Amino acid sequence: MSARLLLAIESTCDETAAAVIRFDLRVMSSVVSSQDDLHARFGGVVPEIAARAHVERILPVIEEALSRAHVALSEIDAVAVATTPGLAGSLLVGLVAAKSLSLATGKPLIAVDHLQAHIFACRMEAERNIFPCVGLIVSGGHSNLYHCAGPCDFELLGGTIDDAAGEAFDKVASMLGLPYPGGPHIGRVAMDGDPQAHRFPRPMLRDREGCDFSFSGLKTAVRYEIAGPGQPDISASHLTPQQIADIAASFQEAVVDCIVGKALLAIERTGLRRLCVGGGVAANARLRERLADESSRRDIELHIAPPRLCTDNAVMGAIAIERYHAGLFESLDLDAQPGLVRASRH
Ligand code: KG4
Ligand code: ZN
Repeated sequence: MSARLLLAIESTCDETAAAVIRFDLRVMSSVVSSQDDLHARFGGVVPEIAARAHVERILPVIEEALSRAHVALSEIDAVAVATTPGLAGSLLVGLVAAKSLSLATGKPLIAVDHLQAHIFACRMEAERNIFPCVGLIVSGGHSNLYHCAGPCDFELLGGTIDDAAGEAFDKVASMLGLPYPGGPHIGRVAMDGDPQAHRFPRPMLRDREGCDFSFSGLKTAVRYEIAGPGQPDISASHLTPQQIADIAASFQEAVVDCIVGKALLAIERTGLRRLCVGGGVAANARLRERLADESSRRDIELHIAPPRLCTDNAVMGAIAIERYHAGLFESLDLDAQPGLVRASRH
């Protein structure tokens, strides 16, 4: 008998994505339709525009994923969809599509936690078990640390109390006059800059502050560096390319210090020796380098999702296969939960 097949759907924010994955975790197809071009001129994701774009794209994206996998809808054994966290309108589009396909095919419906899926992206690359581990998600919307006892057992250790890491990258990029989404542009520009040029703050890095993060003070420090305190308008037009590169590199170094410091604290507190990292910011080359250095020095087993699986995609929805094996199916009453679920053990 041929391997069973999962159809995974992702529409939590501004990527419309679908993937067909075999139950042995072989990826048969992955389609990601990014909306970056639609949101770029606003400097951030506009929820209403995102939801409308998902409506237009969801069926073509699913059809493309099936067709690239050479699979008919009737051959799918389960339908998975990310239901939390995310933008309400965006989540609903994927959810309605998944419910309809589940109803039409009579195949089980499985709910995916988008943040847990970001960690599972590491499993897809590792090709072996990654649990138990400390899970670190650094994305546009979240900076969270988890104790992941198993694929269906995540406990939140800490998270950002204000901006997410990716949000800070995007806002600082916009201050520096770099295009949206800013993270990759900061990473590129920072390569020519001096990370020691400016000593930006590393908020909440002390142990006693636990595994929570804060990035808004750092963002404000960068703002003062560019425009001066109390200036309502911010423009980088007076800065030379070298000055922009130095600010980008110094900012990036501060964010990386905060993320690495908190990840190591979580390792220490849990006693676990394995760290799995996912989310858009995990594509950052400097963060990857520093995590690799610090982990090898401390003998920590490190898994970072490959860059193509760091940003939003449906392949990481393969975590639903674990839920399938655990018998965790949903009824058609399944709802979207835009807010973060702090702990999930089921
Ligand atoms: O995980 P993701 O695709 O979406 C959310 O679930 O939020 O993450 C998107 C975020 C954006 O803020 C983007 O600027 C950031 O990830 N990002 C990066 C890099 N690539 C994407 N940040 C820093 N360096 C990168 N190379
Ligand atoms: Zn994400």
